[in-house]
Amino acid sequence: MVFLASPDLNAADERQLRTYVQTTLQACRQGTLALVDGIGADVLRQQAHPDFSPVGWHLGHIAFTESLWILEHLAQQPCSFPDYRTLFAADGLPKSKRQQLPRLNDLLAFLRDVRQRTLIYLVDAPLTDQIRLWQWLIQHECQHSETISLVMALHQHQGRDTPLGEPVAGSSQDEMPMVEPTQMVDIPGRSFRLGVEADCGVLNGDVAIDNESPAHWVDVKPCQMDRIPVTCGQYQRFMAAGGYQDRQWWCDAGWEWLQSVPVSQPLYWPQNNVNAFRHHPVCGVNWYEATAYARFVGKRLPTEAEWALASSGLTAKLPTLLTTTEINCNHRLGQTSPVGLAKQAVSDYGCYDMLGNVWEWTDSWFAPYPGFRAYPYRGYSEIYFDGRHRVLRGGSWATRPWALRPSFRNWYEPHVRELFMGFRCAR
Ligand code: AVJ
Ligand code: FE
Repeated sequence: MVFLASPDLNAADERQLRTYVQTTLQACRQGTLALVDGIGADVLRQQAHPDFSPVGWHLGHIAFTESLWILEHLAQQPCSFPDYRTLFAADGLPKSKRQQLPRLNDLLAFLRDVRQRTLIYLVDAPLTDQIRLWQWLIQHECQHSETISLVMALHQHQGRDTPLGEPVAGSSQDEMPMVEPTQMVDIPGRSFRLGVEADCGVLNGDVAIDNESPAHWVDVKPCQMDRIPVTCGQYQRFMAAGGYQDRQWWCDAGWEWLQSVPVSQPLYWPQNNVNAFRHHPVCGVNWYEATAYARFVGKRLPTEAEWALASSGLTAKLPTLLTTTEINCNHRLGQTSPVGLAKQAVSDYGCYDMLGNVWEWTDSWFAPYPGFRAYPYRGYSEIYFDGRHRVLRGGSWATRPWALRPSFRNWYEPHVRELFMGFRCAR
């Protein structure tokens, strides 16, 4: 494990940094706890889907990870709940064996106990040297917080009672988008820097996970990019045209997947209310569905580099955007919102909704950037560079603001459709 020091940080900066870490840890935790406020025992314990652990496991794993990296590694304190090690370690048990869980109150006590020790240690911690690990920990809780949201959405979808509100289309959702769903922008071919320069973030804007670095030059050929993600209104035409029954749109693996499941619409399809959601992005499609739709309209999914180039300008605007309600993130609305309305959150090339709302599938495999170095452990990103995961970009309505940035690379296997995931097309 490497801790990169930033020698130019003076004492005042370190104080600022400490306040930043304290405040962010607490704000992020508030969000995590709000999600499970009022959760029932079933939703806490049951696995909603074989690809995802139960909500209660995520709670314990958040606390365990904080205990492991901050208390054990940095503070050199022994694990305060050694019995939880196997249960909550990332590599402890298979997902199907994670349902024998402590009661909610015990899980909350675990979270509280670890957090209390963490905050005490933070008061005198040599932050300048450790900041990368603290930033990573915040990122980690953000990730699991979003996974908790989607697991709860799955439970709700399966008819269980959750604290999540049912999606409703309100008056603002009938607003006409600024953009015609068919509009595309021209992205000129050019060389540009893909990834973030330093993988050791010091201040908020510089945060990155290991797989986002190093920055490197890539050549992108000229292409066209959808200005907005594919909407329910558009996707409905694919469904109405028998897209789910028509072999010609599907790749071999996609068709094979489709034959093995009773699927004929996106997972989070607003079945009883399509019209009210017609300007919302499609949500709950896997990579196979996204590619099939793209083929149906004579387009394709963008590569990760094309997507990143199209998002130019958003990194600079992000800090300001996060002080407004332009971006649909952080669970603020509890669901998707109509696309093409957030005028401040438009990229330099004119693309809307590249941050928040829904994750967007790209055509690219999740692979290391040249010169990649794993942090803080190989299992975080490196073991997923296996030619089986595709990259998603942009974040969703459930993404925490500290994890929302154009450079963030999410990764899932092509059959996964449980996230708040949609797509836009390129040509
Ligand atoms: C980036 C969301 C794919 O949940 O598998 C959390 C994040 N890794 N703990 C995941 C992660 C380890 C990761 N994703
Ligand atoms: Fe984790």
